[in-house]
Amino acid sequence: MATKILMVCLGNICRSPLAEGILQSLVDPTKIIVDSAGTGGYHIGEKPDYRSIAIAKEHGIDISKQRCRKFHVADFREFDVIYAMDKSNYANIIAKAENANDVKKVRLLLTEIDGRENQVPDPYYGGADGFENVFNMIKMACIEIAKKL
Ligand code: 4NP
Repeated sequence: MATKILMVCLGNICRSPLAEGILQSLVDPTKIIVDSAGTGGYHIGEKPDYRSIAIAKEHGIDISKQRCRKFHVADFREFDVIYAMDKSNYANIIAKAENANDVKKVRLLLTEIDGRENQVPDPYYGGADGFENVFNMIKMACIEIAKKL
C-alpha cells in the first residue's frame, strides 16, 4: 500500500502546496502519495498563490492544478505522516488529535533537515524573495524525506 503524506500550513495556498509539489516530484507517485491542506479556511477551492505557482514553475514543477482545502480530523486516519510548516500549524493540528497515535503522526517539516525545530516562515505578506527562500527550505526537507522513504 502507498505511503500517504500530508503537508499542512495555515492558508494552503503558499507553503504547503509547494511542499506537496516538491515532495511529489521527488518520489514514485505509485508508492508515495502527497497531499496538502490548511488549518484555516480562508481560501477553500482556490488555486495556490500566484507567487507559489511561479516559483514552482521556475523549478519545473506544476502546482497550478492543486485546490485549497481545509485540514480535517479524518486526515489523521487517511495519512501516515502529517508535516506542519510552523509551530502554529503544528499546534492547530495537534489540537484536533483524538489519540496518541494521531499526535505521533505530526512533525515539523524542517526537523527533517537537521533535527532542529526551525519553521518555514509565512511568505504571504512579503515579496517574491520570500517565496524563493521558502521554496529552498522546503526542498531541502523534502530531499531528506525522499531519501528515507
Ligand atoms: P500559507 O500562507 O499558510 O503558507 O498558505 C498564508 C496564506 C493566506 C493566509 C495566511 C497564510 N491568509 O490569512 O489568508
